[in-house]
Amino acid sequence: MISIIAAIGKNNELGKDNQLIFHIKEDMKFFREKTNGHKIIMGHKTWDSLPGKLKNRENIVISRHDFEGPDAIVHDINQFIDKYKDSDEEVFVIGGGTVYHQFLPYAKTLYLTEVDKADPKATTFFPEFNKSNYEKAIIKKGSEDDLVYSIIKYIKN
Ligand SMILES: NC(=O)c1ccc[n+]([C@@H]2O[C@H](COP(=O)([O-])OP(=O)(O)OC[C@H]3O[C@@H](n4cnc5c(N)ncnc54)[C@H](OP(=O)(O)O)[C@@H]3O)[C@@H](O)[C@H]2O)c1
Repeated sequence: MISIIAAIGKNNELGKDNQLIFHIKEDMKFFREKTNGHKIIMGHKTWDSLPGKLKNRENIVISRHDFEGPDAIVHDINQFIDKYKDSDEEVFVIGGGTVYHQFLPYAKTLYLTEVDKADPKATTFFPEFNKSNYEKAIIKKGSEDDLVYSIIKYIKN
């Protein structure tokens, strides 16, 4: 089973200059708890934006290239999708924009932290999707500093 996890702004903003836009401790905690012990798959740029491997998770990176660091590198995204889209094992797609875009049609569940703030300088965006095709459950609402957010689980009908 493929799940997506992301934090997005009012206009689906994901990132700016290869960094995150929103830093919400509660969102980070949710991300850690949700993905702990699972395979996480990310694009090469997202990997480059991290300080290193995220511990207690199998770090898989999608790239056309080979390099040191991650637990595994996937060159063929379709092979990965075929392997996991109907599996019992839940794997988490953790970004960035190009990778969310490619996995969205195959993801059964989306965990989105929706932040009620826009950033006109954003450079990467979460893809548009039709919310009427998903059942929506609010996991948590909160605010931190000036950021009001809702953590929402979308399950595809
Ligand atoms: N808000 C959030 O929740 C969140 C989460 C994650 C990331 N982000 C942000 O998103 C931004 C990065 O996202 P991005 O869209 O620019 O880049 P990305 O999706 O992280 O990485 C793009 C790279 O992944 C590789 N790739 C993607 N699809 C591939 C395919 N089908 N086959 C082979 N390789 C493939 C390519 O690497 P090669 O060039 O090596 O082939 C490509 O250049 C950053 O600002 C980051 O902070 C935000």
